[in-house]
Amino acid sequence: MNAVSNLALERESRVGTIAFIDLKAQQKRIRQRVEKRLIDVLDHGRYIAGPEITELEEKLQEKTGAYKVIACASGTDALIIPMMGLGLSAQDAVFIPAFTYNATANAVLIAGATPVFVDVDPDTFNICPVDLQAKIDAVKADGKLNPAVVCTVDLFGLPADYPAINKIAATEGLKVFADAAQSFGGKQDDTWVGSLAPVSGTSFFPGKALGAYGDAGATFVQSEDMAEVCESIRWHGTDAQRRESVRVGMNGRLDTFQAAVLLEKLEIFYEELDARKNIAAIYAENLGDAARAQGGYARTENGFGYYTVRVENRDAVREAMGTAGVPTAVYYQQPLHQMQAFANYAPQGGLPNCEKLADQVLSLPMHPYLSKDQALFVCEVLQAAVKETAK
Ligand SMILES: Cc1ncc(COP(=O)(O)O)c(C=O)c1O
Repeated sequence: MNAVSNLALERESRVGTIAFIDLKAQQKRIRQRVEKRLIDVLDHGRYIAGPEITELEEKLQEKTGAYKVIACASGTDALIIPMMGLGLSAQDAVFIPAFTYNATANAVLIAGATPVFVDVDPDTFNICPVDLQAKIDAVKADGKLNPAVVCTVDLFGLPADYPAINKIAATEGLKVFADAAQSFGGKQDDTWVGSLAPVSGTSFFPGKALGAYGDAGATFVQSEDMAEVCESIRWHGTDAQRRESVRVGMNGRLDTFQAAVLLEKLEIFYEELDARKNIAAIYAENLGDAARAQGGYARTENGFGYYTVRVENRDAVREAMGTAGVPTAVYYQQPLHQMQAFANYAPQGGLPNCEKLADQVLSLPMHPYLSKDQALFVCEVLQAAVKETAK
């Protein structure tokens, strides 16, 4: 019998069931407080724009240092609303990494701008400053588009290389916009995600590090002008009295019930963040040569929305790990420039790092309720699976 099969037999008695994300354990912990919060909403009956929305926005402002937080119906809306607020046209180029979730590109296109795909760094998986500069130069040389915005993505929780990106943006006159959907809780240079760029959007999708019990998200802005514009777009483009439409807008509001849930989750978030960091440290110490973990940057703390490694023979390794009861996920099987919807924007020659990562990335179980023994077991199984599939 091989090592993976042995581990499969031992798993239940050694570590029990391993969840990829364990929302049940978390719910058990906060259930009573969440119920109380939900009953409060039922009692006051303000299902839209209830007091919990303002309470959540103010708490998020306090936690992240953002000038203003605008709670939204989803992470996607939290990107679309401020992207619309920038007032872009199809002549405006928005530089985005191609190794991300499709919502990043959708937000750019829905806001009426043109995405320009940029390659990522093979170690950190985030937008590569060198390729960003190359793509800006190419757009300028081509002369058809106006370089307008760089939209970073803090992939898997790791804040992008903001010092390098900000330098390029300042020289080239670009606005910086952060897709921080995966990085709430991350930090760089003592600044929390939410305040690392003039505009950031995060997701509170249930599986995210801070997740609601349904769709939810938030936009973080650093100026009064942008706050006003985003609040207006979120509420059908109306003026402050919510009477006349003064611009094109949408219904991007967060439900009061979701804000109520998020308020209770926020109470335990930073404790959970420490637990995520402990799991990440166990993984980093015990992966051995089996896989290469996502890298990082100086003075930067990963929020560990996910823990993702690069591994050879990824699909076979994943299958073997599954047989031993270790759930994993692949984010992302395909870079955006290779997807039908965005094929018109695919750069000539492709984006080699994005394409390679799509074949190699593997996300391991990551949640605050994973035990040390479970994390060690995941590493053991990963090592055995890599050995076995290399034969
Ligand atoms: C990088 C990125 N951007 C945007 C989104 C969209 O967030 P939501 O699913 O809350 O709309 C996600 C969600 O998975 C994401 O990972």
